Amino acid sequence: MNIKTENKGEVLVIKGNRNLKGKLYVSGAKNAALPNMAASILTDEYLILENVPDLLDTNTMLKLLNDIGIKSIYQDNRLLLKFENQPNLSASYDYVSKMRASILVLGPMLTRFGYARVALPGGCAIGSRPVDLHLKALQKMGAQITLKEGDIIAKAPNGLKGTKITFEKITVTGTENIMMAAVLAKGKTIIKNAAKEPEVSDLANLLIKMGAKIEGAGSDTIVIEGVKSLGKARHAVIPDRIEAGTFAVLSALCGEGITIENYPFEYLECFNETLNNIGVDIVKIGKNTAFIKKAKNLKPASIETKEYPYFPTDLQAQIMVLLSFASGTSKIKENIFENRFMHADELNRLGANIKVDSKNNIAVIKGVQKLEGAKVKATDLRASAAMVIAGLAAEGTTEIEDIYHLYRGYEYIDEKLKNIGAELEKRIKGQ
Ligand code: EPZ
Repeated sequence: MNIKTENKGEVLVIKGNRNLKGKLYVSGAKNAALPNMAASILTDEYLILENVPDLLDTNTMLKLLNDIGIKSIYQDNRLLLKFENQPNLSASYDYVSKMRASILVLGPMLTRFGYARVALPGGCAIGSRPVDLHLKALQKMGAQITLKEGDIIAKAPNGLKGTKITFEKITVTGTENIMMAAVLAKGKTIIKNAAKEPEVSDLANLLIKMGAKIEGAGSDTIVIEGVKSLGKARHAVIPDRIEAGTFAVLSALCGEGITIENYPFEYLECFNETLNNIGVDIVKIGKNTAFIKKAKNLKPASIETKEYPYFPTDLQAQIMVLLSFASGTSKIKENIFENRFMHADELNRLGANIKVDSKNNIAVIKGVQKLEGAKVKATDLRASAAMVIAGLAAEGTTEIEDIYHLYRGYEYIDEKLKNIGAELEKRIKGQ
């Protein structure tokens, strides 16, 4: 991985173009690669992960793992990870402030070495993003947790012990952290109200290959029998359902016929049904290949984001762009994060007609005939993807500031879009 750094001065300039055609492919899932990479802390033997996307976030995780003492070789999306040095059981604020998923090293470090010092993640654009549920669950497993100078200091000198954990809220990385803590704990851990996302199941599959005893991943109850140690494994990261859904919305608005390879239909059932109801025809032309053309008449919809397997919050900004062109009034209720409608104001700058009721976390979208290019801002990862779609669907030129968010989660996205005819270029702000 050519260790990338985010360039906060970059602007992406996009020419509106609704006649894109050709082939897109979906890369490995960011939100599966990150916990899978953290699992390398659990063993002295090597992990070989295939289909690891080359992203800002996976780069950040890799730098963090290197600092912890794990050597890595990354080539053509294949990542080899192996503990080679004395472990440095800490994750500084530099990493955690860049990427909240750094919290995923806490469970593995604590269960294997009995100690971890991880910076407390701050909030981010979409919400306060606490980790209280992670910490409460680790305490229940016997960890002593204190906060000092903004860091979580976690100790378990006699190791962690299995117990029953019931999450009062469904948390994806919370489930992943506790699953990784439990695989080396003494005895059995039962996680109730577990997250059912495919990325949780993918991590469980990797851990099982390493020798862990896990049942029920993908359901709301996961049972883990602690083992003494874990060994080596080779594992391919699942495709990114959120990138796939992002491409589906792009194709429905701008495509003269776009083929999407590695489209994980089985992880997108609710999303696909929603698109069908809006009037988008997703043609399955192979086990994991979708073909989508620009929809003629888009119907309004009423959507609620919920935990998997329902409509994913990470596709909420993207579907808002699609509904901006529907013939009627749509509604989106955001149930997962308290502040995930910032893209609405940016879309309104392009001529959309969206009103946000922030008290009830509802956006009302009145369809418009067209959007017109303008200067806008990307506010977070998925909002930046929505702005790119909007810029391509708009007439004229759109300039997106703070575009660095996009490169956190979409591998080689500029090249992928240029391959289907998109005209975009990066500029330094003000030039
Ligand atoms: C994961 O974040 C994903 N990130 C997010 O994707 C995704 O939006 C989110 O799950 C929901 O699906 C990764 O997997 C790396 P949560 P996570 O814990 O685990 C509250 C993207 O764009 N909560 O499931 O941090 C929390 O505030 C990113 O790729 C607590 O209150 O989300 C939220 O309201 C954005 N206390 C809700 O639960 C806790 O201890 C769900 O959060 C933990 C969470």
